[in-house]
Amino acid sequence: MVRRPRRLRRISTIRRMVKETYLKVDDLICPMFVKHGRGEREPIPSMVGQYRLSVDELVREAGEVLSLGIPAVILFGLPKEKDDLGSEAYARDGIVQQAVAALKDRVPELVVMTDVCLCQYTDHGHCGILRDGVVDNDTTLEILSRIALSHAEAGAEFVAPSDMMDGRVKSIRDTLERDGFKDTGILAYAVKYASSFYGPFREAADSTPQFGDRAGYQMDPANAREAIKEASLDVEEGADIIMIKPALPYLDIIHQVRSHINLPVAAYNVSGEYAMVKAAAQEGWIEGDRVMMEMLLCIKRAGADLILTYFAKEAAKSLIEHENSYTEN
Ligand code: PBG
Repeated sequence: MVRRPRRLRRISTIRRMVKETYLKVDDLICPMFVKHGRGEREPIPSMVGQYRLSVDELVREAGEVLSLGIPAVILFGLPKEKDDLGSEAYARDGIVQQAVAALKDRVPELVVMTDVCLCQYTDHGHCGILRDGVVDNDTTLEILSRIALSHAEAGAEFVAPSDMMDGRVKSIRDTLERDGFKDTGILAYAVKYASSFYGPFREAADSTPQFGDRAGYQMDPANAREAIKEASLDVEEGADIIMIKPALPYLDIIHQVRSHINLPVAAYNVSGEYAMVKAAAQEGWIEGDRVMMEMLLCIKRAGADLILTYFAKEAAKSLIEHENSYTEN
């Protein structure tokens, strides 16, 4: 007997019936960059279609994000000035704190997440406080907890530490509990690799380290078992959602973490992944829209429940056209 799997692919109605994975607008989280000023909408050259927005423009854009059905945004701040402690990161009137408050006031239904890190705010561009030229883990924990608390005070629903210091989830969880923010969630960048795919983001956020690299705290792309260790630690320490970053070259990691961990798993479809698609599409070498949707669907198939992606708005529009569930044909 010849086995004929093609029977299930013969016509689109049957294909619909046996489809295993769906991409939904509810899966998307939209990253946004916020800067000081008014009426500012500054394009980011390496990330076509992405902008550095002042708070008023951010509020407008966030309204559009919500009206497309996207449930959440994650904010990255561009400070006025940098210093060795990254002090604007935890300032009451820092750019992210202002942005969160404005969003909670003007677009209250939208879930607001905040990136908790120091690299945009420190003059040396590292994700922590330096002691003798190296990032000092435990001093950094105190500052990270202050940043997270200031975001919670401003009204953020989730804080998302992206620094890869040991023990930061516990330190942030304890601080939030102690100060009355028991309902503020932690989206942990649990499995974050020292990746070259962050290049366009570092240009957008002006966060390139001034010396050395991040290999002393972000993970080695060669390691998979270590991903399970990092994810398990963040679960124990009190994370609510576990994130893997980047997404596309790490689908095996997403899959493994999904099968070991019971929390929702998020994947960050990072700036380099976005820029490659945009650049090839601009040249006419690929069909950008289809590649985008296939990429996002495959990240879900690998095991991600949620996807942070600069494609969020475009993907949401495409999903609306496809009646909210993307099908290749
Ligand atoms: C901050 C941070 C980075 C990204 C998210 N948070 C940069 C880095 O670690 O160097 C990258 C996001 C992207 O490339 O889209 N630590």
